[in-house]
Amino acid sequence: MLHISPSLLAADFSCLADEIRRIEQGGADWLHLDVMDGMFVPNISFGAPVIGALRKHTDLFFDVHLMIVDPERYLDDFVAAGADLITIHAEASQNVEECLRLIREKGCRAGLAISPDTPAEAVYPYLEQVDMILVMTVYPGFGGQKFMASMMPKVEAIRQKLNELGLSDTVDLQVDGGIGVANTELVTRAGANSLVAGSAIFRAENAADVIEQMKQNAAQ
Ligand code: DX5
Ligand code: ZN
Repeated sequence: MLHISPSLLAADFSCLADEIRRIEQGGADWLHLDVMDGMFVPNISFGAPVIGALRKHTDLFFDVHLMIVDPERYLDDFVAAGADLITIHAEASQNVEECLRLIREKGCRAGLAISPDTPAEAVYPYLEQVDMILVMTVYPGFGGQKFMASMMPKVEAIRQKLNELGLSDTVDLQVDGGIGVANTELVTRAGANSLVAGSAIFRAENAADVIEQMKQNAAQ
């Protein structure tokens, strides 16, 4: 199933609850929450206390993208804050398998992300243990960067692998970075079904129009 997951990183941080209401009314399916620690990526965003405060303002599915070193240290905090899905980076954890297992044990969906320099094969050993794979289409750390079309072969390869394993209906395949109306068709044709878009949605004059156009442009 197709999801549009607007990234809160591009919202007006002075009025987050209003910003969330705006995209919820505009037809967003999920809310993407980018957590950055200034170590795994050269930027700091927000953490579990902010996510927990926002949980009271919306029923949207919380898609939490952890760009932090050794994410196992903070899983309990993000679960308690109301995360529905927690995605860790393959490059950031010393024990990916254990971390994914812990996320599920705590009652959340588990996602595994790969940065642009990490090959598709890095996620293959974990496909039975995840609910989502995230293929980054920019180097993680900042919103508003240029989409890397060169990542599409990785999306195609992972979709094919999921098909071969009979997992295509149960494991989502997400793309994140530089996504918008113009490349929705390309990324969905490659096999992505979960689309993160920060600037394209929050910085648009009319978020609902962008979400609607992205849904229309998605390959069936
Ligand atoms: C980048 C983040 C993205 C980012 C996307 O590190 O993971 O979620 O907010 O923003 P846009 O859509 O503006 O590239
Ligand atoms: Zn993200």
